[in-house]
Amino acid sequence: MSSYKIALLAGDAIGPELMREAVKVLKAVESRVDANFELVEAPFGASAYFEVGHPFPEDTKKLCLEADAVLKGPVGLSYEETQKIPVEMQAERGAILPLRRLLNTYANIRPVSLPKGLAHFSPLKPEIVGEGIDIVIIRELVGGLYFGAKETGVNENGKRFVKEMLEYDEDQIAQIIRVAFKQAQTRKKVLHNIHKSNVLKSSVLWNQVVEEIAPQYPDVEVKHQLVDSAATLLCLNPGQFDVMVMENMFGDILSDQGGGILGSLGLMPSACLGDGRAYYEPSHGSAPDIAGKNIANPYSMIGSVAMMLEHSFGMLEESKNVWNAIQSVFAQGYSTPDLSKPGSGVKMINTDAFGDKVVEALLAS
Ligand code: IPM
Ligand code: MG
Repeated sequence: MSSYKIALLAGDAIGPELMREAVKVLKAVESRVDANFELVEAPFGASAYFEVGHPFPEDTKKLCLEADAVLKGPVGLSYEETQKIPVEMQAERGAILPLRRLLNTYANIRPVSLPKGLAHFSPLKPEIVGEGIDIVIIRELVGGLYFGAKETGVNENGKRFVKEMLEYDEDQIAQIIRVAFKQAQTRKKVLHNIHKSNVLKSSVLWNQVVEEIAPQYPDVEVKHQLVDSAATLLCLNPGQFDVMVMENMFGDILSDQGGGILGSLGLMPSACLGDGRAYYEPSHGSAPDIAGKNIANPYSMIGSVAMMLEHSFGMLEESKNVWNAIQSVFAQGYSTPDLSKPGSGVKMINTDAFGDKVVEALLAS
């Protein structure tokens, strides 16, 4: 029997509520497959800062390095609460980015997926959504503006200034581009390369590397698309995209837009993959306004479990079963108050009941 150690970083605000549902699903999976999960919780995020004085404590770092996979909830607090934390210790700069750097999770996989049965969640017109939305955004996650040198100060004219460096070398670009080509090979064999080479030199090099690598994947057609126009096309005709690859900042923005065309970022789990290391997280924030109310939908957290089963443990079949189980709960008409308005035939249930229904559907499959 295989044994996997999973670090659980519940995070802030709605994080612990969502994590409870993910754990239920992991335990259900464990009862069905020939594997044993050792689940170890650790503090992370703003709550960790208040509890133990650091958003990413040393013990949590050690655990993340020795775990086979990390499941992370959303972090961050309201604007007012965040002001009580020194800037460098705030959850984004003090915990998330260091986690990405520590595990070198350069490939962020964000499925923008809405099966036909969930198409009503999209704010787009039914004729645009058609048979549903099914895109994979692949975002470079440990380079670019996020990790470049930063400088602030006062210039010779007495004006405050800021400089942030957007830096990539060809190896960093090549490694994410290969992930994207491989992903495209398993799908429709079309890769949209998102860039801004009419302005940015970083995109000129990026595109050169894409062109150099493309011949190694002759079965994949590459389409180059400017990032601004890609934003428009995601709204006008999302069906033309299958796999999209882009640098860190573009990916941050376009993946949120992906959540927008689904109807909610709550419908977007994600995988952050490095070489031999990985962590999984919902793409959305910690929603402090609805924390503790038991109304947040656990889809993105449970979907992140499904992605962990696939990418870290090679359990492809069980991963599909988990996806099907979540979707079947929506298909039965259930939803949660954060996603749906009462009435219109929705059977409204809370976070924990939604998780129970997913487990029920999984165990029945
Ligand atoms: C995301 C988030 C993070 C990012 C923040 C919380 C640092 O927006 O994962 O998309 O900008 O990468
Ligand atoms: Mg983001």
